[in-house]
Amino acid sequence: MIRIENLRKEYPNVVPLKNVNATINDGDVIAVIGPSGTGKSTLIRCINLLEKPTSGKVWLDETEITGPGCKIEEVHKKMGMVFQSFNLFGHMTVVENVMAPTMDLLGKPAQEAYDNAMDRLREVGLSDKALSWPDELSGGQKQRVAIARTLAMNPDIILLDEPTSALDPTMVGEVKSVIKELAESGKTMMIVTHEMSFAKSISNRVFYMDEGEIYEEGTPEEVFDNPKKEKTRRFVRRLKVLEIGINRRDYDYLGTHRLIEDYAQKNQISVALTKKIHRAYEEAVHQSIVCAMEKPDVHLSIEYSQEKDEVEFVADYSGEEMNIFIDGDSISISILRSVVLGEKYIWDDTKERGNRVEFCIK
Ligand SMILES: Nc1ncnc2c1ncn2[C@@H]1O[C@H](COP(=O)(O)OP(=O)(O)OP(=O)(O)O)[C@@H](O)[C@H]1O
Ligand SMILES: [Mg+2]
Repeated sequence: MIRIENLRKEYPNVVPLKNVNATINDGDVIAVIGPSGTGKSTLIRCINLLEKPTSGKVWLDETEITGPGCKIEEVHKKMGMVFQSFNLFGHMTVVENVMAPTMDLLGKPAQEAYDNAMDRLREVGLSDKALSWPDELSGGQKQRVAIARTLAMNPDIILLDEPTSALDPTMVGEVKSVIKELAESGKTMMIVTHEMSFAKSISNRVFYMDEGEIYEEGTPEEVFDNPKKEKTRRFVRRLKVLEIGINRRDYDYLGTHRLIEDYAQKNQISVALTKKIHRAYEEAVHQSIVCAMEKPDVHLSIEYSQEKDEVEFVADYSGEEMNIFIDGDSISISILRSVVLGEKYIWDDTKERGNRVEFCIK
């Protein structure tokens, strides 16, 4: 169990943690979310004593680890950390990387360290890479080695700071499934992640950090689906809704498709539905609005509902009154109609972007 009492961390120009209080129970899997710069990494680093808190206390079971005389090495035996960048040693093979901390910190003899390392590599599905060099691995494989290295220490708690955010999207899945297995095995974990569906699938508690504290906490359902406070609501909405602004004809067209792809992956949207979203975007926004206008100004919002397994698509755009379903290119619109339901057009001349089209994609 970890208890955090009035934790404060000041840097010369900023106070990321003003007053943090929390208890982490054995078996808890806590997802930490919040805007950039709100102290999520600082909190994890203070708990793990990689940073010295300015004031306040952290207890690990019965021991106050922020107290005088507490040995950092003892704390690091009980708490493992997985970073965004994997920090593997390039001059050691994969298995040596996993063995090293158990020999250095736990004093395991080489054979035992080796056997243990091989078991952990098997757990993350990489025993066949034991003799490879880190440079020969993909990002996802490196992160799995880093997780095996942390597991080799058999820590009571594992802290993970955005473990998938440095990875190519195609490699995120393999790392997430290793983490999910760990969470299901009953390991106590604290993980900083912005991925809502992932957080929902592994965590029992969510901490939303803002204003130097744990601003709101609850079950994933409470925080993601029914946040009580306005700031949490706004943040969670940004995780749920993909918003895209386009204000020139030569905008980043491929980048926009990539944003849609990334959003679909994060929300675990099926391949078939994802294809329809791309198609709807292509015909409704790219062809019928952006290409049809001299100076386009479009705001797009795409929101996926897991319960209904459907997407709500809303595009607001400037210019004269122009209903794409009537004035748009007829081929584009007939393709669009084949993938969307409930088409709606609204004109409101009091708004900067007076045109709105809405539809649903299933
Ligand atoms: N070593 C440091 N020295 C000075 N300021 C720091 C240091 N580390 C972090 N900060 C500042 O503390 C604040 C909180 O940083 P932190 O990295 O904890 O935020 P975060 O919530 O993890 O953000 P992100 O989502 O971008 O990772 C930021 O303003 C950051 O610039
Ligand atoms: Mg961070």
